[in-house]
Amino acid sequence: MLSYIIKGGKRLEGTISVSGSKNASLPIIAGTILSAKTTKLYHVPNIHDTQITLKILKLLGCKVKKERGKIVIDTKPMRKTEIPEDMMRQMRSTVVMAGAIISRFKEATFSYPGGCEIGARPIDLHLSAFRKLGIHVEEKGGFIHCTCDKIIGTEINLDFPSVGATENIILATVLAEGITTITNAAMEPEIEDLAKFLNKMGAKIEGAGTNLIKITGVKQLKEVSYKIMPDRIEAGTYLCMVAATGGKLKLLNTEPEHISPILNKLQECGCNIETQGKVINLEAPKKLKSIDIKTLPYPGFPTDMQSVFGSMLTIAKGTSVIVENIFENRYKYTQELQKMGAKIQIEGKMAVIKGVRKLNASKVDSHDLRGGAALVLAGLCTKGTTYVNNIEYILRGYENLEEKLQSIGASIKIKNN
Ligand code: EPZ
Repeated sequence: MLSYIIKGGKRLEGTISVSGSKNASLPIIAGTILSAKTTKLYHVPNIHDTQITLKILKLLGCKVKKERGKIVIDTKPMRKTEIPEDMMRQMRSTVVMAGAIISRFKEATFSYPGGCEIGARPIDLHLSAFRKLGIHVEEKGGFIHCTCDKIIGTEINLDFPSVGATENIILATVLAEGITTITNAAMEPEIEDLAKFLNKMGAKIEGAGTNLIKITGVKQLKEVSYKIMPDRIEAGTYLCMVAATGGKLKLLNTEPEHISPILNKLQECGCNIETQGKVINLEAPKKLKSIDIKTLPYPGFPTDMQSVFGSMLTIAKGTSVIVENIFENRYKYTQELQKMGAKIQIEGKMAVIKGVRKLNASKVDSHDLRGGAALVLAGLCTKGTTYVNNIEYILRGYENLEEKLQSIGASIKIKNN
């Protein structure tokens, strides 16, 4: 088990460059299956989740080469259509590969991704969309077998603007016959990045980033190079970490418009924020003000930032109220913060956080990716030595986290227990 040892209580100040987006990389790597050619991807973050996705491509027969700053993926040799069960278990978001595999091979087999640390994570919207597209979906013994003669475009309305379901439908219909429309589609920037990548390959996708997406099937796709968008959740995480220490941060390689809900809330807390092109400058007050937060689908406040804000608000002045509307089990981190003296009351979807003067250094356990990041933040803004355990969760989604934090003055190092 890996842990972070954090000697906290220091005001952080400096410059950090944001890595490529984890949640854009995963569907785009899946999209390389569609061209059966070579794709060069730049700015893919070197984290556990992208390593797993690339490993699956190799297991399916693709050639993957990591060169300086880029990943070269040749999916021509791919022959297998079954996503290995242990990989599905390790990372449920591999389910978006199904749409791409079915689109090219007219079949795919994968296991139920199953729940994870933050909720049941069903895929009913993915499967009902596949069925509407003429794909035969058979669920047997925990496995899902998808087969079809061809994929025929149709109208699909999503009961919920699911990010993964929207991505899977796009990947399944880029090479379909006819036109597919998705209403109540997810509008996250990662969907737009996926569409930009696929359109560069020759797909015909309109409306990505809105709740109405139209995909006109094409016959084939071409060889391209593509640079992944910056990771908006990583950007928000570092802004909060520095804000919690009353510090100052220059963030490079960002898309400020992707994180306006986060920037607005940081300003509400009393931070001074200036943006210029791809640079965000933050200067935090000595004491943050309490605020209220409701998580919503994009362009609302992102659920992935809920735990990091919750952690930061434990030492704000006043009482904050958070409502988590997207996932049913995303407050586990609060039990760990209570070990550090945080005053948090959970009532169903709501967390009531009563600001305290300071937290106390302690040993805490990560239970999921963003909850783990919340605990690192708590350690950074607390005098003394905090141990954050099970950081394998955190390494899934943050590239070079300890080096980036060390570069702005944090005392943080990894310990292998
Ligand atoms: C993506 O997950 C992200 N993951 C999540 O980030 C993010 O929190 C989430 O979108 C919401 O923005 C990746 O992109 C790899 P959803 P996804 O389908 O696609 C329910 C992180 O920390 N739902 O939009 O799984 C579901 O249970 C991760 O980086 C169904 O009911 O999210 C949830 O309550 C965590 N049926 C809600 O919709 C379905 O078929 C949102 O899920 C699908 C989803």
